[in-house]
Amino acid sequence: MSGAVITIDGPGGAGKGTVSLAVAHQLGWDYLDSGALYRVLGLSASRKGIAFDDEPALAAEAAQLGVSFGADDPNLGVRVLLNGAEVTQDIRTETAGKAASQVAAVPAVRSALLQRQRDFEQPSGLVADGRDMGTTVFPDAGLKIFLTASAEERAKRRYKQLIAKGDDANIRALQQEIEARDRMDSERSVSPLRPAENAVMLDSTSMSIDEVVSAVLALATERGLSV
Ligand code: C5P
Repeated sequence: MSGAVITIDGPGGAGKGTVSLAVAHQLGWDYLDSGALYRVLGLSASRKGIAFDDEPALAAEAAQLGVSFGADDPNLGVRVLLNGAEVTQDIRTETAGKAASQVAAVPAVRSALLQRQRDFEQPSGLVADGRDMGTTVFPDAGLKIFLTASAEERAKRRYKQLIAKGDDANIRALQQEIEARDRMDSERSVSPLRPAENAVMLDSTSMSIDEVVSAVLALATERGLSV
């Protein structure tokens, strides 16, 4: 399809969500948080007692998943609904992240969600954030970014977020969870986490969010993507 798509892939905690949303706002484009689809599926499957290795049941659940996105909330970000009920905070826990990663490794789940993700593409532009946006979902995107940061830095950022929310957190445990999820995402057989061949690599370890956003916008302008 058209090239009015920017993909931002990379491991969890590298800042993809914040950067993608800011880039989408600046350009006036739509935003797809593909991780939210896997998170909602993990939540819905857990609530229904579907085992994370029950491929046919997970695929059926993915095919009829009643997920929708609401308007941005200044505190919560993009609001996520399951069958019309707010799940924005429920899907952001570490447990929900792990569940997402487990259901995301199931090939039939990825096939069931593929077209649904492609349907987010708009003539007016889309910024898509995930693990395989540039490799599988939008292979013709006009700009593909692979955003990384060291596991230590990602754990530090997550720690700060949790403490700011008033939650308990242990930085070493967080880093271990982050590394375990990276491994699970990188080693799965379908659409593993890896940069697309023509992706631009950005390491955000010592960059601020604003610096990363500016770098992405400059690349978009270079490619003639921004209007
Ligand atoms: O990006 P986020 O942390 O919300 O993603 C949660 C999980 O969903 C990831 O760890 C990954 O396993 C899965 N995911 C995926 N493909 C995507 C987006 C997310 O496999 N495009």
